Amino acid sequence: MTKDEIILANKEFLFPAVFHYYQEPLVIARAKNQYVWDADGNQYLDFFGGIVTVSVGHCNEQVNAKIHRQLDTLQHVSTVFANEPQAALAKKIASLTPGGQLTKSFFTNSGTEANETAILAARCYTGNTEIVALRHSYHGRSATAMSLTGQGAWRVGMPQAGIVHAHNAYCYRCPFGLTYPACEVKCAQDMEELIRSTTPGNIAGFIAEPIQGVGGFITPPKEYFPIVERIVRNHGGIFISDEVQTGWGRTGDKWFGIEQWGVTPDVITGAKGLANGSPIGLTVAKPEVADSIQRLTISTFGGNPVTTTAAKAVIDFIEEQNLLANCTETGAYLRAGLEDLKSKHEIIGDVRGMGLLQAIELVQDRETKAPAATETALAMEAARENRLLVGKGGMYGNVLRISPPMNIGRADVDELLKLLDRSLVACAAMAAGVAK
Ligand SMILES: Cc1ncc(COP(=O)(O)O)c(C=O)c1O
Repeated sequence: MTKDEIILANKEFLFPAVFHYYQEPLVIARAKNQYVWDADGNQYLDFFGGIVTVSVGHCNEQVNAKIHRQLDTLQHVSTVFANEPQAALAKKIASLTPGGQLTKSFFTNSGTEANETAILAARCYTGNTEIVALRHSYHGRSATAMSLTGQGAWRVGMPQAGIVHAHNAYCYRCPFGLTYPACEVKCAQDMEELIRSTTPGNIAGFIAEPIQGVGGFITPPKEYFPIVERIVRNHGGIFISDEVQTGWGRTGDKWFGIEQWGVTPDVITGAKGLANGSPIGLTVAKPEVADSIQRLTISTFGGNPVTTTAAKAVIDFIEEQNLLANCTETGAYLRAGLEDLKSKHEIIGDVRGMGLLQAIELVQDRETKAPAATETALAMEAARENRLLVGKGGMYGNVLRISPPMNIGRADVDELLKLLDRSLVACAAMAAGVAK
């Protein structure tokens, strides 16, 4: 198919809700390491990694060699049979969870299903129904996951009962109009009032992304999760950490994002970067929580030998290459470069994130913080022109998200900074043209 035929077929044969970045969709033909090539043969630096999913580089040779071997050995059996790749992955994951305390895994095909399983476990374990999620969150696209999600644009259909939304720790736009640390983390303290006023008092659990991904890499202060954890546990709830974007070392030094706040959750969910592009969902829980799901359950493709081989190969690669340290070191270098760009470009209102999960929030005016949504769309187009892929996010559509493969180095960051700088200059020129 030609590029135009692909775009046409997308329009004609896919649900229109399947949206694409850019005014003209970008057709990607192939990829290797930190680069992708479009259908016309143009090369792009990929600092979004297929939405925080290409964790160890496109078509990673070591990972793919293991996938190929497994594909020719055993491709599928379903969860009603045991197989070695699933067992080996579950054993490995148990050893990586905080304090080795979360030891039982359930595998599915996506982050959505991982979160479904986590909510089910919370309700079975506690006997309570109510779940507290966060505003600005994103947890997936099933009925439950959309009801957990705290952004209207991603909630379709009838929201489910039994889910309430707490304020998030969005310091740049504090929901209480306060400033950290003088605020005494009011957003966390407010959890008590929320539970007392909108639930029967006993809750099943709390679910949060340590850093809100689709929300625009919103990163809470260090006190936030410990305070919330105490309140949630006092009300009988368990703590679920949605690590679909923050897991596997991306935030630096730790395997899971929530460890940066010193909290040990009862359940962790994972997907995306765990298998570098092979579809996988993971719900790993403390044994007593996992054991509370007593009825039968099945996931036809869950624990698939090929995807679990891929995931184990990714974890092995992360360990061998010491990528947790690279996320810290190269992440700090990236962060410093983004702060430099902030001092040059007025449009950057905030730089935030951890490790190799960094974002810039664009504003029309640093005083009013009016979201620069139009300019962000223009910056995306300019980045494409400059052969750079980054992500867009934030409830107001004004955040550029940067999440490259975790095995990049300083030279790649230098290239990103150069291309991003150029794109922001072009964006300012385009915005001036639009305003005329
Ligand atoms: C934090 C988080 N949780 C859950 C999901 C849903 O994952 P999936 O799209 O694999 O269902 C996403 C997807 O972007 C996510 O970012």
